[in-house]
Amino acid sequence: MCGVVAVIGKQNAGKLVIEGLKKLEYRGYDSAGIASVSSETLNIVKSEGKLINLINKLSEVSNSSLKSVNAIAMGHTRWATHGNVSVENAHPLTSENRVAVVHNGIIENYAFIKNKLMSEGYSFKSQTDTEVLPHLFTKHIKLGNNLLQAGRLVLKDIKGAFAFVAMSLDFPGELFVSRNSSPLAIGLGDKSNFVGSDAHSIDHLTQKIIYLEDGDHALINFEDVQIFNMNNEKVDRKIINIKAEIGLITKGGYRHFMEKEIFEQPSVIPQTISTFVKDNYEIKIDLNKLGFKNKNTLLISAAGTSYYAAMVGKYWIEQLADLPVIIDLASEYRYRKPSVFGQSAMLVISQSGESLDTLMALRHGKELGLNTNAIVNVEGSTIDREVDYSLYTRVGAEIGVASTKSFMSQLVILFLIAVALGKKFNNITTAQTQKICLNILALPSAIAQMLNMENEIKLVAQNIKNAKSIIFLGRGLLYPLALEGALKLKEISYIHAEGFAAGEMKHGPIALIEDQVPVIMFLVSDGNEDKAISNLQEAYSRGAKIILIADKNCIQKASFAHHKIEIPNFETDFKSLLSPFLMAIPAQLLAYHVANERGTDVDQPRNLAKSVTVE
Ligand code: G6P
Repeated sequence: MCGVVAVIGKQNAGKLVIEGLKKLEYRGYDSAGIASVSSETLNIVKSEGKLINLINKLSEVSNSSLKSVNAIAMGHTRWATHGNVSVENAHPLTSENRVAVVHNGIIENYAFIKNKLMSEGYSFKSQTDTEVLPHLFTKHIKLGNNLLQAGRLVLKDIKGAFAFVAMSLDFPGELFVSRNSSPLAIGLGDKSNFVGSDAHSIDHLTQKIIYLEDGDHALINFEDVQIFNMNNEKVDRKIINIKAEIGLITKGGYRHFMEKEIFEQPSVIPQTISTFVKDNYEIKIDLNKLGFKNKNTLLISAAGTSYYAAMVGKYWIEQLADLPVIIDLASEYRYRKPSVFGQSAMLVISQSGESLDTLMALRHGKELGLNTNAIVNVEGSTIDREVDYSLYTRVGAEIGVASTKSFMSQLVILFLIAVALGKKFNNITTAQTQKICLNILALPSAIAQMLNMENEIKLVAQNIKNAKSIIFLGRGLLYPLALEGALKLKEISYIHAEGFAAGEMKHGPIALIEDQVPVIMFLVSDGNEDKAISNLQEAYSRGAKIILIADKNCIQKASFAHHKIEIPNFETDFKSLLSPFLMAIPAQLLAYHVANERGTDVDQPRNLAKSVTVE
């Protein structure tokens, strides 16, 4: 993971780099560092913990040249892969105080290179894979190569996924950058140029962006950016004009971004809906582009929360369109030899559009001949650029690491795909389609009603905040919600939580039930509720603390539950087909309030990052 930013040719380059890093903390936040060149010196300041620690440290460094007018600087925010969280392992990593490198990704053959370099007399100060990079640069520069030549030799030496920036005191006005699988954007300015892990990190400096392609490298100075492909041929890459986000996104009066993002769902979900549902209740999704000229099996691949959205999508598409759907975890798909029998289309789902597992799964699908599509939130992200067709969720930047509004918007698009496919293949009528569209248009107000249940959910959160382990149960369309509820809770509260299909409990997980273990069930009257209530009863009989979040009918049937939270009374479809939209809200609120009660870092929970760009 990690975020990199570099600025060349601007006054106060160090300060501008810090501004960029502030926008990249979603990629990792366990340590940060900055390097700059001034009067023949390489200045490095690094610090453990969040970026604010680095900012504080910089303000303490008296007479630091970093504070003054520097023309060239680069910085890094880290998510540890190789080597623990420490100042030594923070980037930039250096060699002989003449070369510095910031890197995102993993150098897979670093151990071999490190041994070789050590036998040649290079000493290592960190446990990172990255440190081989500055030493390799030093080695090749010492042999008489310039920065570009040295960088090309380094690329020959290394294997893995990476995006890195290198600077050397021997070539003080230049930066060497390269990318392979990890994202990297170059920004073009007036007598200045910039580098960032994403375009947003440098949009305070320029709106003219070039995305490097895999295997590209570039030599950047104040006036010029020269880009080369993996065969060292000079290439022109498209210059894209991006819109600058207005300043830094704020919490808007909420305590956390996650809280804000939960509560803004009624106002941002209409943006997703209006992209695809037009006035005459037509769903504007190009099913031919999606790969559905004929009936086929759809493959959906994703990671984390996006994967649970895919699971809901499978249930909807099978139910509404009578089409088979295979769902696959992106991290697994890539390393299998999957059969594509009966498949023509692959859909990947990714909020960030940068999850490396999902990107690799997409490339694998492409190699296997599938038409590729994506549901993404970030336009211009790597996945967006590589697929044949993108469906944008358009819910604005999501900052909290735990995905909330993105999950909801992914569900909206999956539901609309299911309806559009159902209509195309005559599984549902035009009248049914119109009714469903009306329901979707009513979704924001239904979400707002669900949000009114916050106080009741807060009470449950207070009651379970000291639990050691929590079990979530669901059946049918609400089984993926049980998984998502457990993921949300463990991500931000650090309480062990697992989601199970309610009917599966008796096949093993029921052994986990002991006195007072909270068992949370999301339930609606979908015709199968009696079966789910029986499963709940089995847990109750073994001493579990039962928390039921359900409609009135189910609450009456399961009167034995210890905590009963009745959802508002919605129209029938909401209580069955559309129930995942409703239950996403208590799943999110419960995780949020348990985490708050426990005082954890809700927006930036330990060990996680918003965008996971390592495999
Ligand atoms: C990370 C985040 C999860 C997210 C997953 C997939 O693991 O911590 O919250 O669901 O990545 O992210 P994507 O951007 O691909 O949807």
